[in-house]
Amino acid sequence: MKKILVTGGLGFIGSHTVVELQNAGFDVTIIDDLSNSKIEVLESIQEITGKLPEFHQIDLKVKKDVTDFFNNNNIDGIIHFAAFKAVGESVKKPLEYYENNIGSLVYLLQEMRDRSIDNFIFSSSCTVYGQADELPITEEAPIKKAESPYGNTKQIGEEIIRDTCKANGLNAISLRYFNPIGAHESAKIGELPLGVPQNLIPYVTQTAAGIREQLSVFGDDYNTPDGTAIRDYIHVVDLAKAHIAALQRLLQKENKNNFEFFNVGTGKGSSVLEIVTAFEKATNQKLNYKIAPRREGDITAAYADTNLANSELNWKTEKSIEEALQSAWEWQKKQ
Ligand code: WQD
Repeated sequence: MKKILVTGGLGFIGSHTVVELQNAGFDVTIIDDLSNSKIEVLESIQEITGKLPEFHQIDLKVKKDVTDFFNNNNIDGIIHFAAFKAVGESVKKPLEYYENNIGSLVYLLQEMRDRSIDNFIFSSSCTVYGQADELPITEEAPIKKAESPYGNTKQIGEEIIRDTCKANGLNAISLRYFNPIGAHESAKIGELPLGVPQNLIPYVTQTAAGIREQLSVFGDDYNTPDGTAIRDYIHVVDLAKAHIAALQRLLQKENKNNFEFFNVGTGKGSSVLEIVTAFEKATNQKLNYKIAPRREGDITAAYADTNLANSELNWKTEKSIEEALQSAWEWQKKQ
């Protein structure tokens, strides 16, 4: 049975990917430093799959601890989620973001190089494209100067991986996520925003739950049909399954280059107001919102051209926006 290391495996996307890895028959080991996740997620994963993943609380910025882990664990592949990911926070604390996101990546890749561990899946983001000139966004779209240190760590991370694969014959795939939303159908795992949510869907569900007074829609003067910004919201379970497909591609040596990257989205754009309407319809909950000024740094529109991922990964999204919003609401009610 192949043993897969999932870093950040107790986080939102990480935990959903661990569930799908176990469902696909992989032996999973999680490394998480619990800086932005909760240990209770481990038990929730076991409740869903019946299998308790091995867990190590390790700070990947501590090279000695990373080396010790690999001295004691034979790993066949790595899915690397562990990173700080708050755009606004990264603007205020760039050095923490570069140290954490880049430092941990370098230490992981050094172990892979030294032990000939071959298969690496990297958690990247559509923010590498900034505001793309053409929509939908393909993998050929030019990488734009990052709008935040967070986005820059994803761009730099991909370049580090590309150079390392070229120099050391490793094989890696970078998955550029659009906007992950929703929760597992069991409502046992989901998005756990610590503090005031930055992302739209957790703010929507907390407003519906009465935790937040009112949702602010950041701007209705964008050049879009209803004036509000457009994003590609993908169900987190569909996103998790894309990681399994990418890992299988590497394990079966079907990759065509030693560094590949894929846009992972639904291919459909939804505006903020369309999400509000869809949420109200899907959950029968009235949402209290107001139109507010634009948020600094937001782009007008981004949604994926999914043809490459669909064909090369033999993967496509199966769940609807309504299912994602319903699952997010079911998860919120469990909090
Ligand atoms: C979506 C839309 C907001 C909150 C971020 C990261 C990106 C990726 C996904 C990690 C925007 C609007 C939001 C609110 C609102 N994360 N909004 N009111 O900014 O597209 O992307 O999350 O990989 O890297 O940048 O997602 O959910 O913050 O915003 O109107 O209270 O919702 O303006 O148009 P975003 P988001």
